[in-house]
Amino acid sequence: MTSLQPERLDIDSLDIAGDNRAKLKALFPSVFAETRDEQGELVESIDFEKLKAELGSFSDVFENRRDRYGMDWPGKKDCIKLVQQPATGTLKPCREESVNFDSTENLFIEGDNLEVLKLLQKSYYGKVKMIYIDPPYNTGKEFIYPDHYAETLETYLAYAGLVDDEGKKFSTNTANEGRFHTRWLNMMYPRLYLARNLLREDGCIFISIDDHEVVNLRNICSEIFGEENFVANIVWQKKYSVSNDDPGIAAMHDHILVFQKSSFFKRNLFPRTQKQSTRYKNVDNDERGAWASGEYVSSKSRLERPTLWYSIRHPKTGKEVWPDENAVWRYSKEKHLLMESENRLYWGPDGNYEIPRLKRFLAEIKDGVVPSTWWSFNNFGHNDEGQKETGDLLGKKIFSTPKPLRLLKKIIALASSDSDIVLDFFAGSGATAHATIALNVEDKTNRKFIMVQLPEPCDKKSEALKAGYETITDIGVERVRRAIKNIEAERENQTRESEEIISVLTRPLSQIDLGFKVLKLDRSNFKPWDGSNPDGALLICLENEITRDLIDAIAAADPLQFLCLDKAFNGNDQLKANAVQAFNSLNQSRDKAIPIIFKTV
Ligand SMILES: C[S@@+](CC[C@H](N)C(=O)[O-])C[C@H]1O[C@@H](n2cnc3c(N)ncnc32)[C@H](O)[C@@H]1O
Repeated sequence: MTSLQPERLDIDSLDIAGDNRAKLKALFPSVFAETRDEQGELVESIDFEKLKAELGSFSDVFENRRDRYGMDWPGKKDCIKLVQQPATGTLKPCREESVNFDSTENLFIEGDNLEVLKLLQKSYYGKVKMIYIDPPYNTGKEFIYPDHYAETLETYLAYAGLVDDEGKKFSTNTANEGRFHTRWLNMMYPRLYLARNLLREDGCIFISIDDHEVVNLRNICSEIFGEENFVANIVWQKKYSVSNDDPGIAAMHDHILVFQKSSFFKRNLFPRTQKQSTRYKNVDNDERGAWASGEYVSSKSRLERPTLWYSIRHPKTGKEVWPDENAVWRYSKEKHLLMESENRLYWGPDGNYEIPRLKRFLAEIKDGVVPSTWWSFNNFGHNDEGQKETGDLLGKKIFSTPKPLRLLKKIIALASSDSDIVLDFFAGSGATAHATIALNVEDKTNRKFIMVQLPEPCDKKSEALKAGYETITDIGVERVRRAIKNIEAERENQTRESEEIISVLTRPLSQIDLGFKVLKLDRSNFKPWDGSNPDGALLICLENEITRDLIDAIAAADPLQFLCLDKAFNGNDQLKANAVQAFNSLNQSRDKAIPIIFKTV
C-alpha cells in the first residue's frame, strides 16, 4: 500500500506558472535563453519567435485571426492570475475533532477550497484518482464565496471570523447578481484548473450540475481539460415524481459531467449486482456453470440478410427448422455449426422448443455491466433518499441538499479501486466521504478520501443551528463520525452472529481506514524567510530526527534563527506545531525586538 500521508505541509503552494514553464522547457528546451533584464541582471527568458517556429503554422493561424472560437467573460484573465497567486495559509491539524488521528490517511479539511487546492498541490500533485464535486448550481439562492479580494487567505480568515472583517461583505447571491454567470464562472474556473493538476493521468472528474450552468460548465471544462477529454454527460433522474408546484416543464434530472485527465482513463464497468447475477442458472447441469439464455434470431429480414436464412436440424425431431422470414438467424451458418458442436443451443427443458435459444455463460461474459448515460432513480437513488439518509443519521432538515449514497457509491466504484484517492472539494454534508467508507466495507477496499468544506455558517433559524451545528463543516464532520460508528457497531453485531462468515467474506475492519484527520485552514505559523540574516546566532541542526527534548534544548540556547531539516519531523505535524509553539512562547517571554526565526529546509 502506498503511503498517502502528505510528506510535509508546505508553507507555500506550488508555483503554478513556474511549473508550466518547466513543462514547456521539457518539451522545447531550445526556446529558453539567457538574457539581461533592464537592470543588467542575467535572467532566463522565452524566445516566442522560436516557439512559433517550433509549433509550425498552427500558432501563425491563431495569431492572425481576429475571430476565434472560445469562451470569454469579464474577469477571466484574473482567474489565471488567481491560480498563480501562491497560497500562504497552512492546514492546522485538529486532533480533538478527528477520528483515529494517528493512523488515518483520510482528510476532512475546513477552508476555502481555492486556498486549500493550492496547498494540496505539492503533496497531492498527480495523485488523485477521481474527483466528485457538487458545487453551487447558481440558482440565484446559494452563497458563492468571493475571491475578488486581493488577499484570498485574508478574505477567508475574515469570512471564517478568525480576523476582523474590516467591512468586507459576504452574502448569498442577491436578486441583482444571482443569475449573472460571471461570478459563478470566476469562482469555478480557477478551482477546476487547480483540481486538474491534482488528478492522476488516468484520473477523472464527475461534476453534478443542473440546467442553469450545464452549458457554461461544459465549455470551461472543455477549455481546462481539453474537448477530447470529455467522457459523458450523464442524466441522473433525481426525482421520482412531478410536484404540483413545479413551474413550466418539471426538471426531473441533474446532469453529471465527466471529464478525464487524459486518454489513460479507462471506462470501467459497473460491478454486476446480486440481482443481475441470479438471472444465471444451471438447469441442465452444464459443466461450464450458470448461464442465461438469449435470442437466437435477429430483427433482420430474409431480404436484408439472405445469408442468415438457412435451415438447421432440430435435435429431438430431426426435422429441418427455418427461421421466420422477418426474423432470420443471428449468426452465419458456419458460426451456428460451431455453437451447435459446443452445445451452446438450448431447446427448452424437454427439448421441445420450435427454435433454439443461445446459452450465455456467466463465466464468459465481461465481469460487469457497461455504464450508460441514463441513470434512473431505481438504481442510483434520488434526492429524497439523500435527505432520508442524512435525516436518519443527524436528524431531519439538518442539511438541505445531500446526494444519495447509492449515486455516490456507483460513481466512486466506477472510477476508482483499492487504495485510490477520492477528492470532493464542495463536501457539504460529507456524503462522498460516507460513500467512500461504506463502499470500502462492501468491496473490501481501502480507498482514501479528501473532503474540503467552507465553514459556511448555518442559517440563524435553521434546524441545524438548533441542533448545535454552527457551520456546514460541523455537519459534514459529524456525519462521517456517525457513519463510522454505525459501521463499527453493525460489524460488531454481525461478528457476534456469525464469526466464520464474516472472516471469509469481508476484510477485517482493522484493515479499512475508519478514521479521518480534521485540518483547518489558517495563517501559517512559519514566518516567511526573506533571505536576510540579522546579526546574531544562526543555529543549524542537521539531525535526521527531531525530538521534543531537542527542541527544548535549542530554544534554551536562545538563537536568533534556527534552521533544521523538514524531514527530521518525520511527517509529525503535531511535533512541528509544538516546535513553533516553543519558539513563540520564548519570543513572548524574552523582551527583545528581534523574534526567533524558525525555518525548515
Ligand atoms: C451542494 S453542496 C454539496 C453537497 C454534498 N454533495 C452532499 O451530498 O452533502 C455545496 C457545498 O459547497 C460548499 N462551498 C461553497 N463554496 C465553497 C468554497 N469556496 N470552498 C469550500 N466549500 C464551498 C457549500 O458550503 C456547500 O456546502
